[in-house]
Amino acid sequence: MSEQIYYTDLLESDVIISSKGNETDIPASNSKKYYIESYGCQMNVSDSEIVAAVLNKSGYQGTADEKEADLIFLNTCSIRDKAEQTVRNRLMHLSHLKKTKKGLVVGVLGCMAERLKSKLIDEEKLVDLVAGPDTYRDLPRMISDVDGGQKSVNVLLSREETYADIAPVRYSSNGVTGFISIMRGCDNMCAFCVVPFTRGRERSRSAGTIVQEAEEMVRQGYKEVTLLGQNVDSYRWAEDEKLKGKNLIDAKYEEGVINFSRLLEMVAQVSPSLRVRFSTSHPKDMSDDVLEVMSRYDNICNYIHLPVQSGSSAVLERMNRSYTKEWYLNRIAAIRKYIPNCAISSDIITGFCGETEEEHQETLSLMDEVQYDLNYMFFYSERPGTLAAKKLIDDIPEDVKKRRLEEIIAKQNQHALQRHRQQIGTKQIVLLEYTARRSDQQLVGRTDGNKKVVIAKDGWKIGDYVEVEITDCTQVTLFGNVLKKLDL
Ligand code: 5AD
Ligand code: SF4
Repeated sequence: MSEQIYYTDLLESDVIISSKGNETDIPASNSKKYYIESYGCQMNVSDSEIVAAVLNKSGYQGTADEKEADLIFLNTCSIRDKAEQTVRNRLMHLSHLKKTKKGLVVGVLGCMAERLKSKLIDEEKLVDLVAGPDTYRDLPRMISDVDGGQKSVNVLLSREETYADIAPVRYSSNGVTGFISIMRGCDNMCAFCVVPFTRGRERSRSAGTIVQEAEEMVRQGYKEVTLLGQNVDSYRWAEDEKLKGKNLIDAKYEEGVINFSRLLEMVAQVSPSLRVRFSTSHPKDMSDDVLEVMSRYDNICNYIHLPVQSGSSAVLERMNRSYTKEWYLNRIAAIRKYIPNCAISSDIITGFCGETEEEHQETLSLMDEVQYDLNYMFFYSERPGTLAAKKLIDDIPEDVKKRRLEEIIAKQNQHALQRHRQQIGTKQIVLLEYTARRSDQQLVGRTDGNKKVVIAKDGWKIGDYVEVEITDCTQVTLFGNVLKKLDL
């Protein structure tokens, strides 16, 4: 195979990728099979569903077995160095398969593709194709370039692409819960974060197509949808041509502008039997009108993921998070005021540049104050090209980072157990989602507040809403008895 690289490294304004042009290149009766593996966040799972739709439309068939695939795609994550290492290890394993299967195409999609560009092809010799998050419509053309003996790279970022017109193929879904991407990219520039560089500028997707997709999910029997965006609170959509392209950031309820609270309400109105979740909220932008809408709709789940990152205002400033500890606690108070029983989760980074022992203690004390139901906890991993990598020093020794992380995890475990114990004796509405891994006689579902509940299977089915009395718990799981099935 020739080592020639097809490299589309143009400025976004230089090229408009036409979906029609790409799709006609590949015959509809394509017997080749593809296999996709997603790493990282829920947004990548959702993007892989777009990739599947694009490939299906070009005649390729999906397979769940990598051994029978002609094309293997890894949809990757760059958020921490470890995430990239995981993908590199996976690529090493795939090199065995590549040796035994002539013509096997290996593609790297998503954030790592965007970050490393053609370097990935130089560093990982088995990679044939590198596609950034905004280029998935171009995949059929890229595959044909690879079939023609070239390597193919397209990492063009777009200011417009939202894949709004593509119906995702939810190939790995349980048929009960699914995601809808409502926006792409991020403009926030948190100092530690690589996402604005890998996923590009923030852009919202048409509200009409979001509602249509939710309606279609209901028709297909789905019972829960999670609306996805890096910062859902800055969602803005104007159907009105006059408003398009204008700065809508400060718009709230002006005529013709749909903000996140309005969108949430529109999706909640699709069907009372469709539970609605969303992620991620940003403390600087989460407004009371979103909370007010949540309090009015039973089918909007009482759960908010509100990443704090640090409990120290000085660290938050270094992180460029645009809020203080006091502001964050004010948002927590607002949540408790509108939705007293709301479950709250967060992300915390420990060992960020210059973090003192006192600043670490401030994070622990904020955790005591909020008592999170769930927390995703990480130690700081410097990412090339970010504000922190350019301007700050990654000066906290690894052993200190690890010790602080252990203290944070230990505290979270205590809080999670306490929060779970408070559920014992209560009645919860649970949506049953899958069979338990440990026993096929048990089903697993989630409460409105996103807590995992295990019940005895008896006659209940995946997709049922059931009322459950909580009888026992661990720090990660609730156990309960079903009282009755609910017709929602
Ligand atoms: N190091 C460690 N954690 C990070 N996150 C983002 N960037 C980094 C980094 N460089 C965490 C943040 C974010 C979550 C998705 O990942 O907590 O909210
Ligand atoms: Fe990264 Fe901050 Fe954007 Fe979240 S809000 S994706 S942490 S830059």
